[in-house]
Amino acid sequence: MRHIIDLCDLTEKEFSDLYKLTTNIIDRPEGYTDACRGKVLGSLFYEPSTRTNLSFSTAMMRLGGSVVGFSDPGSSSTTKGETLKDTINMVSSYADLIVMRNPREGAAKAASLYSSVPVINAGDGGHLHPTQTLTDMVTILRYRGSADDMKIGLCGDLKYGRTVHSLLHFLERYHNVQIYLISPDVLALPDYMVQFLKAHNMPFCQARSIEEVLPELDVLYMTRIQRERFSSAQEYENLEGNYQLTAEKMKRAKRDMLVLHPLPRVDEIAQDVDDDPRAVYFRQARFGMFGRMALLLTLSKLPFVRAGYQDIGAHGVRCTNPKCITHSEAYLPLEGTAGARCPYCDAPLEAL
Ligand code: NCD
Repeated sequence: MRHIIDLCDLTEKEFSDLYKLTTNIIDRPEGYTDACRGKVLGSLFYEPSTRTNLSFSTAMMRLGGSVVGFSDPGSSSTTKGETLKDTINMVSSYADLIVMRNPREGAAKAASLYSSVPVINAGDGGHLHPTQTLTDMVTILRYRGSADDMKIGLCGDLKYGRTVHSLLHFLERYHNVQIYLISPDVLALPDYMVQFLKAHNMPFCQARSIEEVLPELDVLYMTRIQRERFSSAQEYENLEGNYQLTAEKMKRAKRDMLVLHPLPRVDEIAQDVDDDPRAVYFRQARFGMFGRMALLLTLSKLPFVRAGYQDIGAHGVRCTNPKCITHSEAYLPLEGTAGARCPYCDAPLEAL
């Protein structure tokens, strides 16, 4: 365990140890107030964030460590034209751990090549968001004991929602998980994720409304329609307000169904659902902070080996994803064959 680009970077044993540590911290937080004393977290947020940014900072402070960084790229040297490589090289010579959110897909993986400390992906475009998955898993495991034998509905923006992509990646580890994909066609799961589900024999079906599948579900994972990822305002406005959960609809759900949401919520969950004991999204956000404490503590103790890289630039291929980090940071090593997955963002590669 070195960098956390995807939560699947952890082995089953490592994840189970991390979960155990998280529950110990939840139950006895006072035992950890000095656990990271003297450690510094470099926090690089190139994209807006409230929960992830604040919960990482709070997590480090609750462990007795401190935080440096920015939450607005306008206040970093990126505006002066500095490459990601140079920023990471520099910050990793100051800090003991780096947490980074970046709108470019594959940015965290790219950063990890140039870092002399562990890099934690706090979201790379629409790609992955492993610490949200940690948050989601801690919540599911705390309330259900296990993620096996579970019917989970994922509703809303399955196209741009990196939290959904990350969670589906991780659920591959569990048995008998049935997936219900609830979204309009334009926000359906990207093809590479559909291929992932098929390749791993994860049973899934598509639904056009929450009502259609609600009575079946053990967990309903709601997501926000991500306005910032649309190319036009009109495209967004056509969808806003669809796929909403209300107290009325909740009457048809199982008595112990859990409603999760990575937050921020806009109007996809009506305010009248908040008092329902099955609505656990605010508790989920708090569990996320404890999960991040466990992750920071674990990574800060592990021996670290810097990734080796020899190559510079692309060799015969390029990534087909226009949002991939390889398009803005041209020095990144990139090789492979046409049709293979991009090592940064998972999209297919094409011949140059
Ligand atoms: C999400 C994100 O940023 O991916 N929020 C979060 O990290 N808690 C989801 C979103 O922005 O809709």
